[in-house]
Amino acid sequence: MTRASNRAAFKIYVVAAIFLVAVEPAANGVDSSRSIELGREIFSGQHALVAHLRDDNRTLPDNAVGCINCHGHADNAASFAPPLTSQYLLSDTRRRGGPPSRDDLGSFCRVLNVGVDPTGIVLKKAMPQYTFSDTECAALWSFVTAR
Ligand code: HEC
Repeated sequence: MTRASNRAAFKIYVVAAIFLVAVEPAANGVDSSRSIELGREIFSGQHALVAHLRDDNRTLPDNAVGCINCHGHADNAASFAPPLTSQYLLSDTRRRGGPPSRDDLGSFCRVLNVGVDPTGIVLKKAMPQYTFSDTECAALWSFVTAR
């Protein structure tokens, strides 16, 4: 390698290092706040959702499927459905008579798309079944675990 090409290569390394140190974390910050924002829209029914009840292939009306309709209260006793908060989802709790369990991204998405909880118990029919993409599900998870 010539001295000139060594210098050119060095410049490329420096530019790449600056990008990794400065730009990457900033981009991740933007991504995570966009993800939380998408999660908020899905939660509050402002994002188109397709859902049905178990064993029933009729699509539920748009205004019925936003999570907030049933999971609107943070207080379990006052709510039609369990609170979707980090405290409830991430702490070991007995759910539906099963052993203590907590959620992670994978189990949360399984609840939404398949209707089965972290211990394998099938949820009540009142909880709709959705068809979320990985991105939508991760966005919802970011939103509810930030509460
Ligand atoms: C029509 C009412 C309704 C809507 C809309 C609804 N849910 Fe539910 N959801 C329920 C009910 C009722 C349960 C409790 C089911 C049970 O205990 O068997 C539940 C349970 C859950 C659980 C399991 C919580 C636990 O106990 O571990 C999660 C997670 C959940 N819902 C997420 C969502 C999300 C996210 C949305 C919106 C995309 C949503 N739900 C929309 C009624 C609803």
